[in-house]
This record gives sequence, C-alpha cells and structure tokens, in this order.
Amino acid sequence: MVKILVTGGAGYIGSHTCKVLARHGFEPVVYDNLSRGNRWAASFGMFELGDIGDAARVRSVLEKYRPSALMHFAAYAYVGESVASPLLYYRNNIGETASLLQTLIDFEPAPVVFSSSCATYGVPNRLPISEDHPQQPINPYGYSKLVVERMLGDIDAAHNLRSVSLRYFNAAGADPEAEIGEAHEPETHLIPLVLAAARDATAIKVFGNDYDTADGTCIRDYVHVLDIADAHVRALKYLLDGGATCAVNLANERGYSVLEVVATAERVTGKSIQIELLPRRLGDPAVLIGALQRARTLLGWKPERSDLEIQMRDAWKWMTRSS
Ligand SMILES: NC(=O)c1ccc[n+]([C@@H]2O[C@H](COP(=O)([O-])OP(=O)(O)OC[C@H]3O[C@@H](n4cnc5c(N)ncnc54)[C@H](O)[C@@H]3O)[C@@H](O)[C@H]2O)c1
Repeated sequence: MVKILVTGGAGYIGSHTCKVLARHGFEPVVYDNLSRGNRWAASFGMFELGDIGDAARVRSVLEKYRPSALMHFAAYAYVGESVASPLLYYRNNIGETASLLQTLIDFEPAPVVFSSSCATYGVPNRLPISEDHPQQPINPYGYSKLVVERMLGDIDAAHNLRSVSLRYFNAAGADPEAEIGEAHEPETHLIPLVLAAARDATAIKVFGNDYDTADGTCIRDYVHVLDIADAHVRALKYLLDGGATCAVNLANERGYSVLEVVATAERVTGKSIQIELLPRRLGDPAVLIGALQRARTLLGWKPERSDLEIQMRDAWKWMTRSS
C-alpha cells in the first residue's frame, strides 16, 4: 500500500483527510505532537507521536515507513493567538516546517501537499479571490503560511521537491458518519460556536453589523471538511502523476453572512439563538469568497457539499453525538 506521512493528522482537517485517504486505498501515517489534536481522531492508519521540528524523530519515522508523499497539516491556526504571540507562530509554522522539510530532503524529497490558507491574501481588492490575487497577509498566522508557500517554491527550484499548496477558505462540517469532527480547545470557528450556543442556550457574539454587506455582517466562504479531504487526495494523485508545483484555492465561490449562519443554525437545531452584538474586530475583511476555477481545471475538484445547511447538519450531528 502507498504510505502517506500526515503531519497534524490528529487535528480537525488532517483526521478527516486520513479517513478519506484510507478509503482510497492509501495508508496514512499520522505524525502529531498532540499539542492541539486528539489521539482518538488519529484512528485511520498508524500513529506516531512526535514534533515536526524533532529531526531525529522525523527521520526515524521516514526510515520506518518510507512514505511516497507528505501531507503537512501540522501548524498553529488561531489568528488572534498569532497576533498576541507572533513568535509562537513564526517558530512552529515556519521554523519547525523548515526543519521538517530539511529532514525530508536529506532523506528523500517526496512530494508535499501543504495546508495553506486564504489568510495569505489579506484584505481582498477583488472578488472572488483567485490564486493570482496579491498575497498581503494582515496577521502573523497568514504570513507564516505565505512564507511556507515561498519556501516550497524555493525548495522545488533547488531540490526538485514538488508541492501543492491548498489555500483553504473556512473549513466547516464534520464526518457525516460522526466518527470524527471538529474539537478545538478553545474553539474560535463560527459554526461550532453558533451550534454550541444553540445547544447550551447561550448567546453568540457577532462582531460588527455595519459592514458593507446586505445584512451588515461579515461574509465567509465555508467549505465542507470532506470536500477539503477529497481535494487532498486529488492533489496527492496529481503530484504522484508528476504534476508541477502550484497553489490552489479550496472554496465554494459562494459566501454566507454571520446572520445567515445563525439563521441556518436555528433551522438545523430547531432552537432559537440569542445574539450579542459587539463592535467590529480589527482586521476582519467584510467579504472573503474564493474562486475555484483552478481547482476544477487542475484537480478536477468541485465541492459536493457547498450547501451551508448540509455542513451545519453534519457538524450538529457530530456535536450532539459527542456531548
Ligand atoms: N480550519 C480551517 O478553517 C483552516 C483554514 C485554512 C487553513 N487551515 C490550516 O489547515 C491545517 C489544519 O487545520 P485544523 O483546523 O485541522 O487545525 P488543528 O489544530 O485541528 O490541527 C493541527 C494539528 O497539528 C498538530 N501540530 C501542531 N504543531 C505541531 C508540531 N510542531 N509537531 C507536530 N504536530 C503539530 C496539532 O497537535 C494538531 O493535531 C493547519 O495548518 C491550518 O493552518 C485551516
């Protein structure tokens, strides 16, 4: 079986991708330090505990499994935390990734699928955001992802290590079989927060209702986590077939406002949800919607679960099952 090393495979998106990899006949090997992930989520393939910056440990795992490719999810991923503690992000997301890639190159330069982000674009000057939009991140998290994209481009030129950087918009939903789902601590993503507010009869904080959008609240492009996982398998096959280094958006080309998310949560849960209206947060663009043409052309990918209600039903099924 073709083995794939999956850093961060005990996290939200990595664990769903491992499940889909296994379904496609690959053997995922999760490599995770469990700083933000869950051991129970890494239940599709082998598990190896370790930090991506620990070169000796990474090398021993590479020697043990001889993976055909690397999927690199491991990172810290909280925008607010990155603003408060930038060096944490520069060290873990950039420094430790440089160490991981050096170890990989020293062993054997296998292709890489990298978890990048729409946060690399910053505030958009046109919509939908296509891959050739300027990348001007407005926080250390987005900058850390951009640096790794550049690092991967430079490594290809120097060492023939090909990669696909997948720039996800907002990951949402859960495994429809509810075996795994989103379990961040603390949770910062809107959909699980809104669903938790419905479950616990608490209020959901809405930051700003004076944006230049139809209802005044921010609009985001939500992509089902299984669609993201499917895109990883396609990107992997593209690289294993000899595909060239590139960056690809994973988006729906469709956005929902915060109030639309709340209304959908009310329909899905059958509960009414209270809103606590607060001032805008610094650095929240009004609208983020991604263009998906390149993913269609290059990977043959299109999202199958773009309907927000489907995404929220899966997330709710997971949340109510696990609570
Ligand atoms: N969730 C989103 O909407 C979203 C959007 C765009 C990009 N991304 C990116 O996708 C990736 C996965 O996101 P997620 O939401 O699943 O995050 P997550 O926090 O659930 O998963 C990240 C995993 O990486 C592990 N990890 C972190 N640092 C590590 C290290 N130094 N060594 C080993 N393991 C380490 C954590 O323990 C965790 O299991 C991240 O790189 C994130 O930046 C996420």
